[in-house]
Amino acid sequence: MGNDQSAARQARGESVPFAIWQTGGATEHLGGIYATRRLRQMCPLRPGQLLLDIGCGMGYTACSLAREHGARVVAVDSGARSVAEARGRVARAGLAGQVRVVRADAHDLPCAAGSVDCVIVESVLVFCDAPRVLAEVRRALKPGGFVGANELTLLKPPTPELLRLLAETLSIRTFASDGWRALFAQAGFVDVRAAVSRMRLREQLASHIAVDGLGGYLAAAVRGLADASILSAFINRRMLKAARQYASSVGYGLYAGRKPL
Ligand SMILES: C[S@@+](CC[C@H](N)C(=O)[O-])C[C@H]1O[C@@H](n2cnc3c(N)ncnc32)[C@H](O)[C@@H]1O
Repeated sequence: MGNDQSAARQARGESVPFAIWQTGGATEHLGGIYATRRLRQMCPLRPGQLLLDIGCGMGYTACSLAREHGARVVAVDSGARSVAEARGRVARAGLAGQVRVVRADAHDLPCAAGSVDCVIVESVLVFCDAPRVLAEVRRALKPGGFVGANELTLLKPPTPELLRLLAETLSIRTFASDGWRALFAQAGFVDVRAAVSRMRLREQLASHIAVDGLGGYLAAAVRGLADASILSAFINRRMLKAARQYASSVGYGLYAGRKPL
């Protein structure tokens, strides 16, 4: 990727090309809607409570938690195009009175201290300075409030090729489950729990089809793959080899913790 392209990306607040998020359609985290449901069960949320969805992407989780659980939602994302997509989804769903989408950085949340009941973060901490974001989450939460995160998790020590794929090409910094739990505990959360899963292609595909429909999902994948920045970065022998290792070495972890009373 040339410097001009990466400078433009940074100006849009994108750590990785937007097209990558698009390749999977409207949800962009491992485990899809099934993982979101499990994460939701780890984080109690009552109707009318204020939920913060950090790195909301296309806004799918924000809309479904508003609709299914009656939450008021502030959805934040640093990417201009993600914010535009999420605002469009909120408007089409008729949820403008319940979900507010704000362009903001996870390291500097647009929330008063102690104002939020629950925070959901799906596949975002890996792109951030995770300790700083978790400190911000703790600041924003009310005492007793919950945080739930779904993050890429190492299942075994990564090979050098895989590390390069994660760090250089995807801008991802991840840990084993113990490492993630330690970060939550160091940020001051208590009752920290983790549930780690392998990637399951069938689950992932079923989620994409449930969310986007088969046609919508295939169209999103084709749009992503037609992006020159993705083709040059990913479709080469080194990356395809690393991608094969990815499936056996990496899964996802659901992490939940509570701010002490
Ligand atoms: C893999 S996508 C996940 C989107 C959504 N949470 C989901 O699971 O469908 C990562 C999202 O995090 C956003 N993001 C990355 N770094 C961020 C930051 N520092 N602050 C806010 N959002 C960020 C990206 O713009 C992108 O929309």
